[in-house]
Amino acid sequence: MWGGRFFESNAAIMQAINASIDIDKRMYAQDIKGSMAHARMLASQGIISADDAEAICQGLAQIKNEIEAGQFNFSQELEDIHMNVEARLKALIGEPAGRLHTARSRNDQVATDFRLWLRDQIDYTIGQISKLITALLDKADQHAEDVMPGYTHLQPAQPVTFGHHLMAYVEMLDRDMERLQDARKRLNRSPLGSAAMAGTGFDIDREATAQALGFSGPTRNSMDGVSDRDFALEFLAAGSICLIHLSRLAEELVIWSTPSIGFVTMSDKFSTGSSIMPQKRNPDAAELIRAKPGRLLGAFQTLAVVMKGLPMTYAKDMQEDKEITFSAADALDLSIAAMTGMVEDLTAHPDAMRAACQKGHLTATDLADWLVRELGMPFRDAHHVTGRVVVVADQKGCPIWDLSLADLQAVEPGITAEIFDVLSIDASVASRKSFGGTAPHRVRQAIAATRQRLARTS
Ligand code: ARG
Repeated sequence: MWGGRFFESNAAIMQAINASIDIDKRMYAQDIKGSMAHARMLASQGIISADDAEAICQGLAQIKNEIEAGQFNFSQELEDIHMNVEARLKALIGEPAGRLHTARSRNDQVATDFRLWLRDQIDYTIGQISKLITALLDKADQHAEDVMPGYTHLQPAQPVTFGHHLMAYVEMLDRDMERLQDARKRLNRSPLGSAAMAGTGFDIDREATAQALGFSGPTRNSMDGVSDRDFALEFLAAGSICLIHLSRLAEELVIWSTPSIGFVTMSDKFSTGSSIMPQKRNPDAAELIRAKPGRLLGAFQTLAVVMKGLPMTYAKDMQEDKEITFSAADALDLSIAAMTGMVEDLTAHPDAMRAACQKGHLTATDLADWLVRELGMPFRDAHHVTGRVVVVADQKGCPIWDLSLADLQAVEPGITAEIFDVLSIDASVASRKSFGGTAPHRVRQAIAATRQRLARTS
């Protein structure tokens, strides 16, 4: 491609470090689409002839078929997808192929291809997250009334419903979708026509190519156009946060499925056995999801380090962007898909969850609140009295609601039998009616509202 001033070919080791074709061939469809839009624009601007543009587009279409049929011979010597495609075009159509690269550089070409690829990827990931949200909503719906211990510090805190707990993850994933949608807006500008970095002297129409490629418009500065990779960093950041969320759910599934807790059973499809211990069911998929965030976080950090301190404009360092982003995207997709399958196939055990509510005096806060409401006690004093009730219950080996009225009155004489109305697990859950609270009707409202939001955005 640059034979004009080069007399020796590259060293083998140079080819090994320089070639990116094994990675960037994944963008072949975007590369071809971008080239077709560019060729058509060049023709309508009178920069190349309509016949040449037609020959170019036909040749490119054939190349696409060859690649998809597995008949394309990718060459390391031709370095990357852009030059592989162009060389094949030359072989297929001859002279007009040489006109395609008018008013263009690989710098704006690769930036365009990568944005197009990542835009498809973001759309796919958003769709995947939306499926996971639906799976969680369906489970939350089934278990909107089923009580379980809610924890802080992994110590029993207050009763909640399993549905409410699952809906917490729906909120996280909802934000993940929003973050990706937001990143997509900034990504969706076309660098094509920035050329090498300064723009071009040819009378091109950047609006036309942007529109043909589904971008909202052209990037505004040619130097930024070829050197910006924020869109990839934003995707990796949003993907990292999403996987952090999935790893938390994965960890809970691991905890919930251990037999001494037994809140859920993972289906056979998402469990493995042990080669030595016949009784084992291991939550391998959940564990692997728990392990994946490092890949995304690592990818973000790797690309951030590639980009930091780079002078304007394009530098070959940036070629690393694709391998980093592609493999991170694969890890993200696989994790979301596996989590969706696990959640869909999960069996919850409401009896075990309810039984677990017997431990940990989960309604102690309700007792303290009652003292405040009915006896006018300052909350700090009520907290203290309740602490003493808990000590008595622990001494007797029962939950606070199984103490007799006499036991309670020995601690605080003002307590009446009405207290038992607020001490049960179900009463506690039903009383948490504040917006965003765990009362079953609130959980169902949250489910309905999320279903509506999803229907609007998809
Ligand atoms: N393969 C290169 C990349 O991915 C394409 C751009 C190369 N441009 C250049 N001037 N060497 O970054």
